[in-house]
Amino acid sequence: MTIEKPPVETLTEADAAEELALLAAELAHHDTLYHAKDAPEISDADYDALKRRNEEIEARFPALVREDSLSRKVGAAPSGIFKAVVHSRPMLSLDNTFSDEDVRDFVHSVYRFLGVLPDESIAFTAEPKIDGLSMSLRYEAGKLVSAATRGDGTTGENVTANIRTIPDIPQTLPSGVPEIVEVRGEVYMGKSDFLALNEQMLALGKQTYVNPRNTAAGSLRQLDPTVTATRKLRFFAYAWGEMSEMPADTQLGMVKAFEGWGFPVNPLMQRFSSIEAIIAHYRDIGLNRPDLDYDIDGVVYKVDRLDLQARLGFRSRSPRWATAHKFPAEQAFTTVEKIDIQVGRTGALTPVARLTPITVGGVVVTNATLHNADYIEGIGNGGERIREPDHDIRIGDTVIVQRAGDVIPQVLDVVMEKREPGSVRYEFPKTCPVCGSHAVRERNEKTGKLDSVTRCTGGFVCRAQAVEHLKHFVSRNAFDIEGLAPSRWISSSKRRMTSSGSRPRRISSRWKSARASPY
Ligand code: IVH
Repeated sequence: MTIEKPPVETLTEADAAEELALLAAELAHHDTLYHAKDAPEISDADYDALKRRNEEIEARFPALVREDSLSRKVGAAPSGIFKAVVHSRPMLSLDNTFSDEDVRDFVHSVYRFLGVLPDESIAFTAEPKIDGLSMSLRYEAGKLVSAATRGDGTTGENVTANIRTIPDIPQTLPSGVPEIVEVRGEVYMGKSDFLALNEQMLALGKQTYVNPRNTAAGSLRQLDPTVTATRKLRFFAYAWGEMSEMPADTQLGMVKAFEGWGFPVNPLMQRFSSIEAIIAHYRDIGLNRPDLDYDIDGVVYKVDRLDLQARLGFRSRSPRWATAHKFPAEQAFTTVEKIDIQVGRTGALTPVARLTPITVGGVVVTNATLHNADYIEGIGNGGERIREPDHDIRIGDTVIVQRAGDVIPQVLDVVMEKREPGSVRYEFPKTCPVCGSHAVRERNEKTGKLDSVTRCTGGFVCRAQAVEHLKHFVSRNAFDIEGLAPSRWISSSKRRMTSSGSRPRRISSRWKSARASPY
């Protein structure tokens, strides 16, 4: 059965974000089936329809373009909103490494390729991988003539007018620079500027933005540069394209030259010869990560000597002389403002920590699941201790929050030094916050232990349980009933009916995802 989707013009920002997340996963799934398994499940036409839908939503909500969107994969064509620019040299991607072992393999592969014994004779630079948008800036006779996004790596979008509004980016270079200079780097939005922008949006009663990267992307893709100018975008230079003359013969030398020409460069870039030193720098940067005013998602290692880079060359999409050592899930400190209880279909009471908003790994986190009463106390599902005995989670506590990919953020631990002297233990409710019925923890008959879940005993008397049951009943996994929806979806369908006269759409998948995610 084909799913009828509402016109893009009727989507709210929240609808769009939710649908883009589903589309990213769906398209990735079909890509794998098609390319890796040779076993497509849908026709090319259906695949193209999904892809078009993704593009249409992204064109309307550029700030919501996801990191994992099909349109961000190398190979995606520019949107057509801006003029196309063919890059003089392709803008490539980086291979990723995730463990110390991968880093050793990378370094050894460089030595092997060059036919040298791994003896620490080859130097590598290590610098933060900025979570922004790569940009190629072309200067002719010292004047900025064009600025282009990466696009599909070969052809990008001409965003020169918008780039000219960024104070970090020089419009002219000092005399004596080569005739043609293409400086490449990352445009990003600082975390503090992003949070301030969201506060402004809240004060104006408008939708807040999801994360600094997408906001930077959306800000750059404005058709009106005066809008871009109001967003505080920044820039770090770290690479280059065409150069009529090279100012240096090492990676570090090039970056220092850029600095001399007036470009901001990252102060954490350093050069090392041993694998251990590289990895130690990665750890240092990781420790400093929460204090940096910009999001980073790893550390990039590059062979320092440019002649060696040239010998190593490229694979199809990435250089052999560089790799990105990615960070695991990011953690951040914030405070628990309150603890709310959500009641599920089976009556399970799930505590949710409402947090002072914080960006964690590029996403604003305001809620974290606390799972159940035991978790708040620091006890795991098997009855084991997961935190020190006095590290129970309390309202007002400063806590460490972790986010990994798209999973619901977790509260990992409490920062005891910051606990307020008068703070009190959180008391898990003994009654259901929705219907007032008794909330109980059942005892496992076999083990005699208390179940970790506290349940409302109200059954259908409880409005929350009744609504969740109804949602489940009509959902795709059960009776798959079309046209029955929470009022916010109904109202958008009604709007659509008046504007286009078409029928209400199917909503079951949205309910499913709304239930799976309490934030
Ligand atoms: S070097 C030929 N250095 O990461 C490789 N890239 O995953 C040139 N990025 O498209 C890229 N910080 O947008 C390099 N310090 C850094 C970086 C960096 C962020 C981005 C860049 C690139 C992507 C690859």
